[in-house]
Amino acid sequence: MKRILIVYHSQQKGNTRRMAELVAQGCRETAGVEVAVVNVNEARVDMNAAERADAYAFGSPDYFTYMAGGLKQFFDDLCLADWAGKKVKGKPYVAFLTHGGGGGAIKSIEAMGASFKLQQVAPSVVCQGAPTGAAVEQSIALGRALAQRVVREAL
Ligand SMILES: Cc1cc2nc3c(=O)[nH]c(=O)nc-3n(C[C@H](O)[C@H](O)[C@H](O)COP(=O)(O)O)c2cc1C
Repeated sequence: MKRILIVYHSQQKGNTRRMAELVAQGCRETAGVEVAVVNVNEARVDMNAAERADAYAFGSPDYFTYMAGGLKQFFDDLCLADWAGKKVKGKPYVAFLTHGGGGGAIKSIEAMGASFKLQQVAPSVVCQGAPTGAAVEQSIALGRALAQRVVREAL
């Protein structure tokens, strides 16, 4: 069984939570994949779970053209876990963002991806407000692409 860890921050209206649910839905289309979904505005991620994950999906609202604090805390924890010798780097990942008219914060998440030498599987999905229409399909497709990558790698 391959493990995908979806780490997202959602706080204001649940827009990013909705997107995370759609990404999880896309991941679950592929057999042999187990998905864990954590809202880091409500709970910290256990770094043993991060180490066990075969791939990550990161989601955030745009907060002042940067990722929200819960997701930043996750990356801080990941850095310390790496320094403690846990295997948390170099995995496949995707990213998604909701915003109120900006959207530039996606770059801060992708910069973390590069910093941890993660492999971006598909272009990030960026959506104004709650996902509707094309953004729903794009979010599901994002999860699907990630799950297919981890299962393919296992063959
Ligand atoms: C503290 C704060 C800062 C924000 N800063 C920005 C911003 O710089 N640019 C932008 O486009 N939206 C900004 N927003 C709007 C949120 O990114 C947007 O409403 C998002 O979809 C909320 O996601 P959530 O409902 O999952 O919490 C901000 C919202 C809050 C609460």
